[in-house]
Amino acid sequence: MNRRLGVLIAFVALASGLLLASALSYPLGSKIAIRDMQDNPQVAIVLGVIFWVCLTLAGSSLAVRMPGGVVVDVAFAPVIAAVSVGGPAAAVWVGLVGTTQGRELRRQVPWYGVVANHCGIMAPAILSAFAMQWIQRVFTLLSFPSSLSHIVDFVATVGGAAIYFLLNVLITSAVISLRDGDSVAKQIRTSGGAYLSMLALAPVAWLMAQMYVTAGWWAVLLFAVPLYTTRLAYRRFVEVREMFTETVSSLAEAVDKRDKFTSGHSHRVQEIAMDIGRAMKVSDVELEALEWGGLLHDIGKIGVPDSVLLKQERLTREERATMNAHPVLGAEIIAPVKHLAAELPIIRHHHEWFNGSGYPDRLVGDEIPKLARILHVADAFEAMTAARPYRMTPLTPEQALVELRKFGGIQFDPNVVDAFVRTRWARGLSDPGRDESRDVPLIGQAAGAIAGLSAGTTSSGAAT
Ligand SMILES: [Fe+2]
Ligand SMILES: [Fe+2]
Repeated sequence: MNRRLGVLIAFVALASGLLLASALSYPLGSKIAIRDMQDNPQVAIVLGVIFWVCLTLAGSSLAVRMPGGVVVDVAFAPVIAAVSVGGPAAAVWVGLVGTTQGRELRRQVPWYGVVANHCGIMAPAILSAFAMQWIQRVFTLLSFPSSLSHIVDFVATVGGAAIYFLLNVLITSAVISLRDGDSVAKQIRTSGGAYLSMLALAPVAWLMAQMYVTAGWWAVLLFAVPLYTTRLAYRRFVEVREMFTETVSSLAEAVDKRDKFTSGHSHRVQEIAMDIGRAMKVSDVELEALEWGGLLHDIGKIGVPDSVLLKQERLTREERATMNAHPVLGAEIIAPVKHLAAELPIIRHHHEWFNGSGYPDRLVGDEIPKLARILHVADAFEAMTAARPYRMTPLTPEQALVELRKFGGIQFDPNVVDAFVRTRWARGLSDPGRDESRDVPLIGQAAGAIAGLSAGTTSSGAAT
């Protein structure tokens, strides 16, 4: 845990502690009592709290991890409903106990994660309870007719839910951004969509509270079906995405496996490219494009005959042309898949050189899509550090980094190489640093430097 995260967790824990002390000075709202137990009101209230804690626990146990690491569950609805009927004191118990997850009991979450999770729910729940009370007081001051109390309840519940939602998103995003080194704004953008769909459960929470008070605890259980359906929708989304990634992954591996020297190449390129993307702080959409683009970048090799793909000797001019057609062929294969539109430029341009001497379109510098420039560096590093028929002894990572630096501004975007140096792949390697004289991407300037290297091969001679 870094220092800033530690300070934030300490602040959230302290604020939550103060709120907890304040909330427990209020009695539990009488509406939380189980109906039809008038002869023992205290037991009815305690049983009511236990009921809502159990319901929240059930919601928390159905958590789904969304792409990007955000965990969503349907516990939002019972938390807000319990706060609505039980007030600030009920918020303490459902927030503190009801949101316990199986991962916490299995000790898969670090202690500060447990503190952040519970405080990140309890503190907003307590404040939302205060907000509900304030909203109701405002309506009372305005002499709102008591016959319309259900409308007041609805406005108070939805208003309280909005407060809960905002604070919960803020605390969670701040903790995750400090943990992962991202900006809070980016984290909110990433998780906002998932959380927003949770806010849609606010009217359901109000209805649960109404049913509990008017019909009894059993009527609340009827909401299990729509809440489970909501959870199922989250799960389906994740499953479809996983299935898509696995299919793309298998396809990439099938292409790589045609050549025993390139087995696993696309997966490693994907990992390196995504790490460079993170170092360059690309958006999540771009990171996803690197994920799938990394896997599929050499998909066009499907159309390269074995006699060329597996040839151990130097390729003839015609064979080289066949080999060099794979980015265009790959883009043509993927073009009909609408969902992979963002990956097309990566696939087509991953062999463009920064100085314009690559292929297929001889783009120069920033004309080459940024993600393709990232993939090119990842592709070259992987190829240089793996055995190939024309170079059975791979370069060491240190030697490969020297090559990346040497050809920065010629073959590679020097900014991307700078970002590569900040990834785990370059950790501990001695870095020769950037040669500033090569930063201007002119074909003429670079022509001498690349003389002797065949077009379309990396600096170390690795065709990938
Ligand atoms: Fe390639
Ligand atoms: Fe490749």
